[in-house]
Order: sequence, then C-alpha cells, then structure tokens
Amino acid sequence: MNWPESASLLAPLAAWFDRNRRTLPWRAEDLSKPHPDPYAVLVSELMLQQTQVATVIPYFQRWMEGFPDAATLARADADALHKAWEGLGYYRRARHLQAAAQKIAEHGWPADLEGLLTLPGLGPYTAAAVASIAFQQPEAALDGNAFRVLARVLGLEDDPTRHAKSLRHWLKPALETLGPSRLTQAVMELGALVCTPSPRCEQCPLAACCEARRMDATERIPLKKDRAPQKESEIWLLAIRAQGRWLLRPPASKGLLAGLWSWPVLPLEKPVANLAAEPQQPFGLESWRSWPGWTQVYSHRKERIQPLALEWSEAFPVAQLRWVEEETLRTLPMGKRDQRLRELLDTSSQGLEAPPIARLLRRLSSMEAGELV
Ligand code: ADE
Repeated sequence: MNWPESASLLAPLAAWFDRNRRTLPWRAEDLSKPHPDPYAVLVSELMLQQTQVATVIPYFQRWMEGFPDAATLARADADALHKAWEGLGYYRRARHLQAAAQKIAEHGWPADLEGLLTLPGLGPYTAAAVASIAFQQPEAALDGNAFRVLARVLGLEDDPTRHAKSLRHWLKPALETLGPSRLTQAVMELGALVCTPSPRCEQCPLAACCEARRMDATERIPLKKDRAPQKESEIWLLAIRAQGRWLLRPPASKGLLAGLWSWPVLPLEKPVANLAAEPQQPFGLESWRSWPGWTQVYSHRKERIQPLALEWSEAFPVAQLRWVEEETLRTLPMGKRDQRLRELLDTSSQGLEAPPIARLLRRLSSMEAGELV
C-alpha cells in the first residue's frame, strides 16, 4: 500500500472540522478530553447505526430524559424501552443497548476496544466509535461514510471494505496526532456534509489531495455493490375492534418484530370480489373503514399494504392475539407500518371503493387458528 502519511494528509480535515462542526446533543464541547458521559456516546452511536442525524436528535433527547444513565436503562421494562425507540426501526438496537447497559451497570466500562467488542450490539465500527469519542483511544471507526471519504481521498477503486484492516492501521497515527475524538468525528462530518454520495468538492478541505478528484472518479468511487432485487408481498393490515377493544398481536420474543405490537395481517387475495358482488355480511360485522394503501419498504423486501378497520359487535377468541383496551392502544410500541394504521384510525374513511371485504370477512369469521398472523 503506497498511501501518503495519514496525519499530514488529514490535518486540513481536522482544522476544517474545528470551524464547521455541528452542535449535536451528544457531542462534547471539548473534543481533546475524554467525553464527560460515555453512556451518551453509546446511546448516540447505536441510534446512528442505521439512522440519519436529524432523525436521531429528538429520539436521543427523549431517551436521555427517560433513561439518563446505564443503571436506569438496565431496569427499564420492555414496552417502555420499545416505546422510546418507536419509529427509529431496527428495534434490536434498543434491546442491545439495554443489554450493554446491564453489563456496564454491573461490571463498569470495558477498558479497551477488545472489551467494548464484547458488549451486545457493538461491532467493530461502534466499538471503535465509542473508544475514540468517549475514551480518546486511537481506534478507527469505519462506517459507510468513513469508507466513502477514505476510498475517495486514497483513490481506492475496488470495494473499500476489503481494505478495512489496512485503513485502520493507516489511520492510527492520524488519530494519535490529531486527536481520536476530533478526527473520528471530522471524518463522519465530512462524509455527512461534503463528501456525500454526490460530493460538494468545492467545499472540501481535502480537495487538493483527493485521488478520486484527481482521477475525476468521485462518481464511481466508492464502488457500488449490486443489490439483490427486493421481494414484494401484498397484505391486508387489519384493525379489528369489538366492544371498545382492539385485536392485536403481542410482541414476539425474537426476530424483526421482537418487542413490537402489531396488527393482524392476512395475505391479499387475488382476484378479489367486492362488496357489491358478495353482498352478504358475515355475522358480527357492524361497519368498516378503509384508506388508500401504501408500499412499506424494508431493508430486504417490500410490502404492499391495504389498511382496513373493522367494527365487530362482539369480541371473538383468536389464538395468539389479544384484545387490548382503547386507552392502551396508543401507549404500545409499534413499528412504522403499524403506527401508520394506528394514526389512520383517527381519520375518516377514505375508502376509494368497497374493498373485497365479504370474502375477507368470511375468512376471518371462520378463521382457523394461526391463519390470522
Ligand atoms: N454518525 C455516526 N456517529 C456519529 C457521530 N458521533 N456524530 C455524527 N454523526 C455520526
């Protein structure tokens, strides 16, 4: 590897950061000292793992009010934990954060990168971010932004993650010379504000020494990976109410929906009959409301959602689901998709056309255990 010496190459970046850094609620004033609250750094880094700064800020502030330290978070109950994370997605991060807080409350903070890596939810990136930002240890935190910045400045034309080990080794002297917390956050800041996927090179403190710019290759560096095409499914998302209570699926203990309450769903049947064609209403149905559907996009799949609210005259037993009081509904943690239907319930029906409800309801009223999931 014939890369220029890192400390002098990146010195203009550190100076640029001192002038241009954003004020962020988890960011210490003095970046030359260990952070006054390492727990705040841990919380922010877990929130920032898959989520943009602007989205994270209000969540971070509320979280720190509700769970101001590791000991408080260690004791929090699962619904409160998920409610505070509601809307951020990737809820496993919240459970990891609590498990990490439990370890820290019991045993104190690990002394080094290796120890931080044993905390739940901390991979090489997050452990290094906490080591450098919270504890001033010269560990290189390489996330997508950092790989983009470094791939461009060094002109790495293949997948930059393949150079992770060399890049960490290369960055060490720069972290030591320019300050671990300061340089780590300077790289992040440049990636967020200037060296973005479509870069603003005219504002960049590294433009004069950037290999990708010299090669006129900022467009193709970093190399983009091919994405597998996303699978798409179609479902009814059902808000069923009877005698003032809503039918909900309680949280699973594992998997993507762990910790979250959700509405029951049924696969959307095709071709579908409509109400006019099938006029007889199933026993127990009093009224229904529907709204325009939407497509919910997840990391590896898409879901075409058709929301529907059904008012039933009497509650009926359904395996694995629970009838929940009206007042409780608002307080339960839900994922984005299910929150959206919860919010629609406060609006009037915008049913474009009669949904193919009769058939759906016949299935519901003769439901076999497990069909409604
Ligand atoms: N992205 C990840 N960590 C960050 C941090 N500490 N500050 C700003 N953006 C970030």
